[in-house]
This record gives sequence, structure tokens and C-alpha cells, in this order.
Amino acid sequence: MAIERTLSIIKPDGVEKGVIGQIITRFESNGMKPVAIRMQQLSRADAEGFYAVHKERGFFKALCDFMVSGPVVIMVLEGENAVLKNRDLMGATDPTKAAKGTIRADFAKSIDANTVHGSDSVENAKVEVAYFFRTTEQCAYEWKR
Ligand code: RTP
Ligand code: MG
Repeated sequence: MAIERTLSIIKPDGVEKGVIGQIITRFESNGMKPVAIRMQQLSRADAEGFYAVHKERGFFKALCDFMVSGPVVIMVLEGENAVLKNRDLMGATDPTKAAKGTIRADFAKSIDANTVHGSDSVENAKVEVAYFFRTTEQCAYEWKR
């Protein structure tokens, strides 16, 4: 399996709830290393640009309102099969449908306040990582096999 990078965001509800550490621990205990981390208050332009693929959807305004409602933690995670692994650890978009033991099942309270974002493909991960981090802001990690 290939070593991949994916973009993860701990959304405002996760930061507010004080579970940044618990969420990062889940990533680390599942073979992923953060290679860039930043806490940031997104501007509306940041949020709208990031979720531009959804701009025609009915939930776009609510999504952007929520993403600017408080600070977020933005990370690049690296590891084997990182894109899919992150999505598995996150659980379904709607926390009421998320599998037991996933981040959203354990911490999220609604489809809007669903605690984490994760890139949904290797291609999108490249675009999303570049949206928030310059190459020089991403560390290299030497994987020992
Ligand atoms: P994310 O991009 O944040 O990781 O979430 P996702 O892939 O699981 O879901 P996506 O389809 O990309 O939607 C982005 C965010 O928009 C909100 N949403 N609301 N009311 C609705 O039907 C609806 N659908 C999506 C969610 O907050 C979702 O995380
Ligand atoms: Mg998505």
C-alpha cells in the first residue's frame, strides 16, 4: 500500500468540546502521522473556497456559517492508505448513521456539527493540502518498515 497524505480538519464543535487531543490520538494510534498542524479562525472566503465543490448545494450556507463559527485545527496526515483510513475513522457524514467507535459517532451532534473533515480521494487530498499548506510548511517523516 502507498504512503499517502490527506487533509483533516477538526471543526469548531470538536475544538469547542475539547477533544482535539483525543481525535489526534485516534489518528496516531491508527498509523497516521501529522506532518503539518495549524489552528486557525477561517474567514468566510477561506470556508467558501475550501467547500467550493458544494456551492450549489442547499446546505452550503449553513456549512460555511458553521465552519467560521470558531477556530479549527487543520492538519496534514501521512500514512499508509491515509485517505481511506481517515474516512473510516471519521464515520458517516450524518453522525446518527456513523458506525460505532468512529469519531463522528462518538463526538458529533448533527450533520452540520460533525466534528471532522477529511479529504475523500487522493486527488482531492492534493488540492486540499495545497489550499492550506505550502510545501515548506509540511514536514517529511521517515517511515521505518
Ligand atoms: P466533509 O467534507 O466535511 O469531510 O464531510 P463529508 O465528506 O462527509 O460530506 P460532504 O458531502 O463533503 O459534505 C460536506 C459537509 O456539508 C454538510 N452537509 N450537510 N444537510 C445535508 O444534507 C448535508 N450534506 C452535507 C456536512 O456538514 C458535511 O460534513
Ligand atoms: Mg466532503
